[in-house]
Amino acid sequence: MEKVQGWEFFGMLFLAVIFVFVKTGEAQSMSFLINCGANSSVNVDGRKWVSDLAPDNNLTLSSTGLAASTSTLGGQSESNSLYKTARIFTEVLNYTFEGIQGDYFVRLHFCPFSFENFNVNESSFDIVANGLKLVAAFNVPGEISNKNMNLQSPRSNSSSFSLIKEYILAVSLNVLVMEFIPAKGSFGFINAIEIVPMADNLFGESVGKVGGGSVNLNLSGRGVETMYRLNVGGPEIYPNKDSDLWRTWEVDTSYMITANAGSEISNSSNVTYSSMNDSMVAPLDVYETARTMSNTEVLDKRFNMSWKFEVHPDFDYLVRLHFCELLFDKANQRTFRIYINNRTAAYSFDVYMRAGGKNKAYHQDFVDVVSSKFDTLWIQLGPDTAAGGAGTDALLNGLEIFKLSRNGNLAYLERYDSDRTSGNSKTWILWVGIGAGVASVVILASVITFIFCFRKSRRRKSNDTKDNPSGWRPLFLHGSILNSNANAKGSSGTQLPSWSVASTRVGKRFTLAEIRAATNNFDESLVIGVGGFGKVYKGETEDGTLAAIKRADPQSDQGLSEFETEIEMLSKLRHRHLVSMIGFCEEQNEMILVYEYMANGTLRSHLFGSDLPPLSWKQRLEACIGAARGLHYLHTGAERGIIHRDVKTTNILLDENFVAKMSDFGLSKTGPALDHTHVSTAVKGSFGYLDPEYFRRQQLTEKSDVYSFGIVLFEVVCARAVINPSLPKDQINLAEWAMKWQRQRSLETIIDPRLKGNCSPESLKKFGEIAEKCIADEGKTRPTMGEVLWHLEYVLQLHEAWTHSNNGENSFSSSQALGQDNTEAEERHKPTSLDEETGCDLLSKSHNRRN
Ligand SMILES: *[C@@H]1O[C@H](CO)[C@@H](O)[C@H](O)[C@H]1NC(C)=O
Ligand SMILES: *[C@@H]1O[C@H](CO)[C@@H](O)[C@H](O)[C@H]1NC(C)=O
Ligand SMILES: *[C@@H]1O[C@H](CO)[C@@H](O)[C@H](O)[C@H]1NC(C)=O
Ligand SMILES: *[C@@H]1O[C@H](CO)[C@@H](O)[C@H](O)[C@H]1NC(C)=O
Ligand SMILES: *[C@@H]1O[C@H](CO)[C@@H](O)[C@H](O)[C@H]1NC(C)=O
Ligand SMILES: *[C@@H]1O[C@H](CO)[C@@H](O)[C@H](O)[C@H]1NC(C)=O
Ligand SMILES: *[C@@H]1O[C@H](CO)[C@@H](O)[C@H](O)[C@H]1NC(C)=O
Ligand SMILES: *[C@@H]1O[C@H](CO)[C@@H](O)[C@H](O)[C@H]1NC(C)=O
Ligand SMILES: *[C@@H]1O[C@H](CO)[C@@H](O)[C@H](O)[C@H]1NC(C)=O
Ligand SMILES: *[C@@H]1O[C@H](CO)[C@@H](O)[C@H](O)[C@H]1NC(C)=O
Ligand SMILES: *[C@@H]1O[C@H](CO)[C@@H](O)[C@H](O)[C@H]1NC(C)=O
Repeated sequence: MEKVQGWEFFGMLFLAVIFVFVKTGEAQSMSFLINCGANSSVNVDGRKWVSDLAPDNNLTLSSTGLAASTSTLGGQSESNSLYKTARIFTEVLNYTFEGIQGDYFVRLHFCPFSFENFNVNESSFDIVANGLKLVAAFNVPGEISNKNMNLQSPRSNSSSFSLIKEYILAVSLNVLVMEFIPAKGSFGFINAIEIVPMADNLFGESVGKVGGGSVNLNLSGRGVETMYRLNVGGPEIYPNKDSDLWRTWEVDTSYMITANAGSEISNSSNVTYSSMNDSMVAPLDVYETARTMSNTEVLDKRFNMSWKFEVHPDFDYLVRLHFCELLFDKANQRTFRIYINNRTAAYSFDVYMRAGGKNKAYHQDFVDVVSSKFDTLWIQLGPDTAAGGAGTDALLNGLEIFKLSRNGNLAYLERYDSDRTSGNSKTWILWVGIGAGVASVVILASVITFIFCFRKSRRRKSNDTKDNPSGWRPLFLHGSILNSNANAKGSSGTQLPSWSVASTRVGKRFTLAEIRAATNNFDESLVIGVGGFGKVYKGETEDGTLAAIKRADPQSDQGLSEFETEIEMLSKLRHRHLVSMIGFCEEQNEMILVYEYMANGTLRSHLFGSDLPPLSWKQRLEACIGAARGLHYLHTGAERGIIHRDVKTTNILLDENFVAKMSDFGLSKTGPALDHTHVSTAVKGSFGYLDPEYFRRQQLTEKSDVYSFGIVLFEVVCARAVINPSLPKDQINLAEWAMKWQRQRSLETIIDPRLKGNCSPESLKKFGEIAEKCIADEGKTRPTMGEVLWHLEYVLQLHEAWTHSNNGENSFSSSQALGQDNTEAEERHKPTSLDEETGCDLLSKSHNRRN
């Protein structure tokens, strides 16, 4: 997932436009390289990007909006100069390009930065190009994200990133009007616009559909968006290396389901295009590298090489596969099947035959429909068992996925959001809407809601936490998109919110006046978190209790159904290691929830990405144990158990005494009924923590939480983001990186340096083993949360024994500690609900620790 690391800058090489699009004579095709909001032109990539206000540039702006600039962008010089300025608009802004005719690549560059009082992460706008809607309610997050939709280039030295969206548009009538339309009360921005002519014969006229038939691919009147473009088995190819089309070809590994199913091959000698007409289809570099099936030392390879892509549901996609046989110099050596979305797209595919020889560059297009129920597109290559005789191996050199517009629309309501308080990585959630009303699928960032329960009289927190206002990122409720189709259209306010019935069960009913008093009339300075759902304020109730007060945005009537489900489910829960709800307010169409305030914020904020002092090994272990207890209670406490589904360090909150509590139960799900082993459900969760088995089989069990918890354990000991795209390839994914070392029993090499010397080697070793077991491939072989808890207690004992003996106070050996510790541990994780102050547990079942 390495991306463009900034624009490479080479000399004054100026590339003339070679392609003259010959469509009925007239208008020459020309390039536009526009540096928005700038006073002068800059040279980037060897190309000259002119100011959008420069005279005689064949471009007019309907208004000037606001020219913004920054000089602080990542501290890098030339490479980003294109991104140092932007045009910000709060009203409709039209960019009208004249003298343009034919098919073009239109690339929109976004690189958010703060300017005056424009909060970069709050932009929301539509873009329409000659009547074709490209994006709707588009929000460019202020921080880096770890998974891209489209081409996205994090710059490793900066916490911000750039996003490039690429479209292919057919322009007629000599004019292209790009309308930038901010949402009411919001704003939009654009850093640069790049319009380059597309090569004439990039797409054929008709393309076969997966499953039979063909579609007429007439681009005029139809827009195309580039979703992915990969150089399979090879390095990233930068725009300036791609002839005159300036495309970026990403590395494919991060999209592979099992990276070691394929191995890379390359041969750069004598590769040529099989047809001269194809010379612009892809640069030869793409064909010079490939991925073939790993040599498994068996005659028949019975597996697939698989790639998985997040896409928008309900669109048609054009999948273009690039091939070039680099090894065999005769036919019938390598024949395979191509599957798209689990259906066979081609049988007995022999690249040598199709391309007409060895080292011949060749491509094949397929069109497939992604229904409203899916948000992924799978591409798999595997042996053709029916082929008989031929070697079972497959090959792929490059891959592109294009989204085709539907009814004049390319837009999919997408929303980026981020863990705003911490780090430079972002978690994404896959919402897969199933069932009638909720036909929306979306990829989101960090997430969701809390657990509610009775817990009126929390002890008062006299000690304020003014010195740590940012440590706490509470509930982000992103029901927003999930419901956008079904509910959002309803007129607001006439109905009672659907959760009103349920909410009467939970906690105190506050009046709006009380809430206003508690939050100083929703004082912006008290905002401690913001989500798609609304804002969260730090407040103080009349009796002096500190609280986190979540207020739904009055304008948004989204997310209510999740709200309802959660309250239904979670009003039944209470536990010392689950964040609790104090009350709610339901007045004048307001939906407000009041939670106990967690003074020390998220566990993650104490691990990395902030200035907070590091937690000691003991504190970390205690936090893990607390979270494990909360989860164990969820899994075993209720009649059918509850699966949290979004276990991660931002959902583990710490109170003023650093007691860890699980929060955000927005995705939680009741466990399987007695006679079932799993719940079948769409995949949700946070990227980087998601159980791969759950992902593959869409069957949810408690063991998915165990997996995520294993990732948490590694995160706690390594103190780094679970996905960090700015690291070298093999380090991006913490799970892979940590397991690499754990398998060699040398986890200590990569642990948080601040722990070195301060934690007992024995405890660390044991800890690594637990984490390893948690993320075992098969759910069956993972331990239960109860077992994890037991082992973590043991680790803590080991560590404490070590601390004692190191201090010379006590010389008991670890084996002594061990003996003592079993009973103590046993004692300690008896269900904690009984020691709750108010003791109104609604759960009847007793909590058997390891049943
Ligand atoms: C553009 O010029 C104006 C007036 O000379 C100046 O105030 C502004 O800072 C300049 N902007 C940039 C990006 O250089
Ligand atoms: C504007 O368009 C005309 C022809 O339509 C062309 O000759 C001229 O070079 C263009 N100017 C710029 C700055 O591209
Ligand atoms: C922008 O362009 C659209 C389409 O040509 C037009 O309807 C609209 O009035 C324009 N808006 C402004 C502010 O010029
Ligand atoms: C946007 O990001 C900035 C800095 O990253 C943060 O201070 C601000 O609170 C964020 N705004 C919202 C609405 O989250
Ligand atoms: C990051 O910064 C270092 C030193 O400041 C520099 O050497 C390196 O090239 C930068 N990386 C990128 C991708 O710009
Ligand atoms: C493509 O569609 C346009 C109008 O939508 C039509 O004028 C043109 O003839 C079509 N071209 C082909 C090759 O079908
Ligand atoms: C690369 O291809 C050339 C020409 O087909 C062949 O002679 C050479 O052996 C190949 N190199 C490798 C490393 O396979
Ligand atoms: C490459 O192609 C040229 C011309 O077709 C040929 O003479 C040469 O032998 C080829 N090289 C290899 C290594 O196959
Ligand atoms: C190349 O393109 C031309 C014009 O589009 C067409 O006539 C010719 O058949 C094409 N050649 C091949 C090999 O596809
Ligand atoms: C294809 O199979 C995978 C794994 O079994 C599944 O996750 C995915 O949803 C399937 N896709 C479609 C379109 O059926
Ligand atoms: C390869 O993937 C296809 C489509 O998902 C599946 O039907 C097939 O069984 C897989 N083949 C192997 C050998 O796993």
